Amino acid sequence: MHFSSAIAASAVFALASGAVMGKRALSGQATFYGGNLHGGTCSFSTYTLPSSIFGTALSDSNWDDAAECGACITVTGPAGNNITAMIVDMCPGCGPNHLDCFPDAFSALANPTLGVIDVTWSYITCPISTPLQLHNKEGVSAYWFSMQVVNANKRVTSLEVSTDGGYTWKSTTRQSYNFFENSSGFGTSMVDVKVTSIDGDVVLVKGVEVTPNLVVTASANFGGSSGTVATSAAVASSSSSSSTSVTVQYPPPNTKAPISTSTTTTSAYLAPQSTSYPAIVVYPVITPTPTPTSTPTPEIVYVTIDACPA
Ligand SMILES: *[C@@H]1O[C@H](CO)[C@@H](O)[C@H](O)[C@H]1NC(C)=O
Ligand SMILES: *[C@@H]1O[C@H](CO)[C@@H](O)[C@H](O)[C@H]1NC(C)=O
Repeated sequence: MHFSSAIAASAVFALASGAVMGKRALSGQATFYGGNLHGGTCSFSTYTLPSSIFGTALSDSNWDDAAECGACITVTGPAGNNITAMIVDMCPGCGPNHLDCFPDAFSALANPTLGVIDVTWSYITCPISTPLQLHNKEGVSAYWFSMQVVNANKRVTSLEVSTDGGYTWKSTTRQSYNFFENSSGFGTSMVDVKVTSIDGDVVLVKGVEVTPNLVVTASANFGGSSGTVATSAAVASSSSSSSTSVTVQYPPPNTKAPISTSTTTTSAYLAPQSTSYPAIVVYPVITPTPTPTSTPTPEIVYVTIDACPA
């Protein structure tokens, strides 16, 4: 009884600390396992970690219905150096704040022969400059909605859906395996999606097809710096909104510099939201998607899902 209470209290403390975006470093232990990105509990089956970000599993004590999935953390080991890692999996039965690292992450902090080390870690904004992605789960339809956010640079706190051009928004519920679901669906196979970060940043993606396994790349990621309070909205348009067969939009090459001019399309779309999201950042969207003269580095790598636990 005493043990359970202590664990629960520590877990609550850990989550409260995490909510202040790295102002307080968390202490725990780290171990390593084989690593499981595609088959891990965060269900990042379509994702490839950026080269600067290691993978790690997080204790189930801190799980909170996958709220930490996709979060980036800086981890400092006993030698004093640190690494950046993304939480992509759960470590069942691990203690509060425990990290079960991918092998390369652990060996960047300590000699693997140590097996277990003490670490401190805190949440940071991911060093990701490419747009976030929306990934439909297999089996979705107008009558069953399930979608996850991939490659977000901040923790995602909600995913809402509109079927009336943004006038009203309907909720989804995050599952422990990191998909935002609505068991009755939204009655249509084309929706607008609003994703909100832990800092209140918003990315809107118009015209997202509810199609099994479809990955839609937005044209923006969450803006602002870590801990910012200002709310901003990035309008993103998936290429599927106006085309018949293009399913994935690669990031346009000129989306890094947002322009502040509004367009008739986006201002009309955002009118009902203008009081809630005063700072509208409109990203230029190239349509139709240009044929690249040289093949860009693919943002999305489709791989065979490794169903075997490590
Ligand atoms: C991580 O290490 C770098 C130097 O390698 C340092 O500048 C930075 O402050 C460290 N971050 C943390 C959170 O300790
Ligand atoms: C599904 O959406 C409806 C509105 O269409 C909402 O009332 C309900 O709470 C949502 N269900 C979940 C599980 O989020």
